Amino acid sequence: MNLKIEIKRDGIFKKFELNSNATTLLNVLEFIKENIDSTLSFKSSCKSGVCGSCAVRVNEKEVLACEYKVQDGDKIEPLQNLNVMRDLIVDYENGLKTLKNRVYLESYKNIKVNIEDERLYRKQSSCILCFSCYSSCPVYEFNPKFLAPFTLSRVYRYVVDTREDSKKSKIDIVQQNGIWDCTLCGNCSLVCPKGIDIKGDIFMLRNQSGSYGYSDPNFVQFDSFGSGGINFSSF
Ligand code: FES
Repeated sequence: MNLKIEIKRDGIFKKFELNSNATTLLNVLEFIKENIDSTLSFKSSCKSGVCGSCAVRVNEKEVLACEYKVQDGDKIEPLQNLNVMRDLIVDYENGLKTLKNRVYLESYKNIKVNIEDERLYRKQSSCILCFSCYSSCPVYEFNPKFLAPFTLSRVYRYVVDTREDSKKSKIDIVQQNGIWDCTLCGNCSLVCPKGIDIKGDIFMLRNQSGSYGYSDPNFVQFDSFGSGGINFSSF
């Protein structure tokens, strides 16, 4: 198969033309490295959609290179919102730091988890930390400190865990640089290779926050005169 693709390197798309029977993007990247340019840098490990290390952007959408069927004319670039270390390799550190926010069972109640409960949080546990959601999120443009979408989804997973006895401390964590900064655009849910509805989890965290006395800080409360708190009588 004759294939022309472009790969972003040092900020510029470079054209590659090859004749190969490779089908997945990862196979094509390996072919280029072995036969055309040994300096091409990218990451992979499991080659079967499990480890999350091969995520890149193709035609401006996040995909796993080991699962994506490459097409003629594809434009490949590294994930966004992360520092590029070399070619398609990015530095995950900033995003991983946000997982240190008590994203685990903190105050463990020793109770039996039934099947229905487990179903509630099984989905979030299938996250492979590929950073596709992080890359697709528009919030980083105006808030680089925004908690990673995958972190917010995991917080929700533990908030609904019936064994967690310390739900409020989890809800507290997501109030700043978290659920209220999210635009609910849904990009994260669209690109998640495991089908986790991250936007839905964030929405549910907003609902849960109300039970703990929190509300949207961006919301301007209108009084009975519709004045938004402005006292017009003084004008
Ligand atoms: Fe592991 Fe692609 S190499 S998910």
